[in-house]
Order: sequence, then structure tokens, then C-alpha cells
Amino acid sequence: MTTPTDCQHCGDAPASESTAEPTLKASQPSRRRFLQSAAAAATIGAAPHLRAQTQAPAASSAPQSNPVVPPRPVTLTVNGRAYTLQLEPRVTLLDALREYVGLMGTKKGCDRGQCGACTVLVDGRRINSCLTLAVMHEGENITTVEGLASNGALSPIQRAFIEHDAFQCGYCTPGQLCSATAVLSEFRDGAASTVSADVRARPAALTDDEIRERMSGNICRCGAYANIVAAVRAAHDNA
Ligand code: FES
Ligand code: FES
Repeated sequence: MTTPTDCQHCGDAPASESTAEPTLKASQPSRRRFLQSAAAAATIGAAPHLRAQTQAPAASSAPQSNPVVPPRPVTLTVNGRAYTLQLEPRVTLLDALREYVGLMGTKKGCDRGQCGACTVLVDGRRINSCLTLAVMHEGENITTVEGLASNGALSPIQRAFIEHDAFQCGYCTPGQLCSATAVLSEFRDGAASTVSADVRARPAALTDDEIRERMSGNICRCGAYANIVAAVRAAHDNA
């Protein structure tokens, strides 16, 4: 219990009444204690943050797990023409085609392998160019939508897309065209799909179900699916 002469706030003994200087000295210990207590409380409250701050230098002094690798010459063969580019190893094939080669037909939709807008052909096989690194494709033949036509003539699947009005905004169309080109050759080569009656046998017909399944990696936000299926079927039937 505090005496009547004790400070009502901190319980410290009263300061001398003789001069201002003794008053200041007498109050210093309690102020110091108060500041020390406040600092301790703040330290406890901020401990996780401070721990993260103090650990950061240790992490930065450790060997970098993902160091910056300088660009190096990479030669890509795109639509029959060789391009030697200065690329960092982390550059995707999609970015290499669009930003370095300058072929903007291949589209970036999701940039994570979900939409198919970036589909190109590599040695005849369709791949999502956003999911692969450009440096992995030296020595391979890359075909983009710009390379589907030859000698100024549209390919059969390009003509079928026009005849069947198989697009609206057109953003997905380059990927759809490359994918459909591969679907036709995959079917010609006898490759089964997950809807084929017997996945060990050559599918008998390129039905609409087969086309839908084989084109299912290419999303069309305009919903032009019915006409895309019709175009693929027509290109197949007219081949
Ligand atoms: S941009 Fe490559 S799959 Fe969507
Ligand atoms: S035509 Fe617009 S996204 Fe397919």
C-alpha cells in the first residue's frame, strides 16, 4: 500500500521539494524503469518480426540458391528460319517467340499451362510454350501459327476455321489452329485418346467426342467450341 506521500501513479518516493534538479534526479530511476519496461514489452510483441529481421542477413550471407545467370546465345529454328538470340536460361519459349523473335501470333493467356493459347508445334508435337524454356529447344523445329500457311496458301485447318466461323475474338485461335493441326496428324498416325473405345487400337473414326477430347486443352472464352469441332471434322474429312 502506498503512503500518502508516494506518487499515486508509479509508487515511487516523492522527489525532494528543495530544488528542481533533485526532482529530476529522483525521477530518473522510475523513468528509466518505465522505459525499460516499455522496451521489453515492445520487444516481446514484435519478436516474430524482429526474428525475421535478424535472420534476413544470415539468409543473404548463405550461398544463393537461384543466382542470376547471364544471357547466352541460343539458336531457335522457327518456321524454318534460324534465330540466334541472347537469352537468359529462365526465358520461356513463349516469351522468346513473342519478345525476342517478334512473332506475336502465339498468345499468352494464363502463362501457366491452363488455357492452350500459347500452343506451338515442336517437331510436329503440340506443346504449351509457356511451360517450357527456350534453351531446351535448340536444334528442334518450332512451328507457330505464322508458319502454318505455306507459299501464301492457308493450311486446310486454317481454311476450315474460316469456312466454319470457328472463332469470335480470335485470341485463342492461334493455339486452336496449332493444336488442331497436331490432332489431325495424331489421328492419322493412329494415336488413341482417352475416349477411344480401345486405347490399344487405332481409333476407327475421328468422332466429335474424339475431337472434343483431343482439343480439350485449348480453352475458348468466347465459346466457339461447336464451330471449332465442325472445322476440325471438316478438315479431317476433306484431307
Ligand atoms: S498461356 Fe500457356 S497454357 Fe495458357
Ligand atoms: S474466339 Fe475468343 S477466346 Fe476463342
